[in-house]
Amino acid sequence: MPTTLFGPKFSQDANAFVPSAIRALAPLINDPGVISFAAGVPNPETFPAGALLESCQRVLSGMPSRVLQYDVTAGFGPLREKVAERSQKKGIPTDAGGTLLTTGSQQALDLAARVLLDPGDVVLVEVPTYVGALVTIAARRAVPKGIRRNEDGIDIAHLEETVATLREAGRNVKALYTIPNFQNPSGLSMTGEAKEALAAAAERLDLAVFEDDPYGELSFDSSARGDFSPLAARIPHRTVYAGSFSKTLSAGLRVGWLHAPSDFVRKAELAKQASDLCSSTFNAAVLEDYLAHNDYDAHLLRLREFYRDRKEILMAAIRESFPPGTWFSDPAGGLFAWGRLPEGLDSRVLLSKAVAEARVAYVPGEPFIVEGEGRPFLRLTFAKEPPGKLVEGARRLGEFFRTELG
Ligand SMILES: Cc1ncc(COP(=O)(O)O)c(C=O)c1O
Repeated sequence: MPTTLFGPKFSQDANAFVPSAIRALAPLINDPGVISFAAGVPNPETFPAGALLESCQRVLSGMPSRVLQYDVTAGFGPLREKVAERSQKKGIPTDAGGTLLTTGSQQALDLAARVLLDPGDVVLVEVPTYVGALVTIAARRAVPKGIRRNEDGIDIAHLEETVATLREAGRNVKALYTIPNFQNPSGLSMTGEAKEALAAAAERLDLAVFEDDPYGELSFDSSARGDFSPLAARIPHRTVYAGSFSKTLSAGLRVGWLHAPSDFVRKAELAKQASDLCSSTFNAAVLEDYLAHNDYDAHLLRLREFYRDRKEILMAAIRESFPPGTWFSDPAGGLFAWGRLPEGLDSRVLLSKAVAEARVAYVPGEPFIVEGEGRPFLRLTFAKEPPGKLVEGARRLGEFFRTELG
């Protein structure tokens, strides 16, 4: 089909869209013949398919006219109530009215960008950060600025300095996007003190905070029971909090949510109306029924053990196989570990060779890094492959990097 008719008619927003740099790598990293440390998806073995089938049957036979119908834009009320109850236990002062169901937490990010950002506005992001957030910022023609983070949290001095410099230059620095728990891609989590300091800095600097927490329930410390004291519990009046069932029950049902102050929720509802009227009533009802008939906390405990075991296997294999001078985060939850290769290795350049020769795929660091050097970094997930392949993949990749170092 010729593409000449639409090209000149594309909006300025459409011309600003950027593809996710990771999705662009898909043909390379999704080769079924390779051991994949690349896929950023939960392990399908963890989806409670049998229990969800029972929930599908119950909601379809029990209330077909409700679950097959449109709903209010905020989404299926009984699920909003259950989600809000769980969030209250984490200290977030919310209720069903302060909750908007979204099509995955990705839509919550997009709604926040549409409600808060104008072209040219600055959003502060961690270095490294989630590529999907950068895509929503670019779609608004807003500008991400990177803030350094260390193993404990965001570098507050760098945050203050960056905001001051940008504001002196006349820039509108509106918001901070952060993933405090088991971050994608680094696997790192902020300490309680780091969250306190960040909350205080957001107050001083008058920043809106977007707290993205899709991995918060996936702590490997089973005693923590997922309560990772959100920023939204500390500064609820300036925080949009996004959660998701994607990593814990099903990514394909596409059910996420946001909690925010009522003026934000009302605007986000209007933005959502414009894009999809409401998220799937059926999928929300299935999850609500699942939560009513199953012990979700017991499921979460099993999930944490599942991922903790795999994380430990991968990290031990990395320690054994990778060349000296390699550094890796030791994630306390989530699905990812983040590594820095020894001097002289470029993860981006070496990816296609690693896939071709070692038959192992990973995600290079560059797409996650707004400012600074991405080339030594890489993201590995321990979520997808079974234990034997985690060990074999780390062995082959370690040997590959050793050979490249010479
Ligand atoms: C940090 C982060 N935020 C948001 C999302 C989007 O998840 P979903 O839309 O499935 O809830 C992801 C998915 O990988 C993610 O890693």
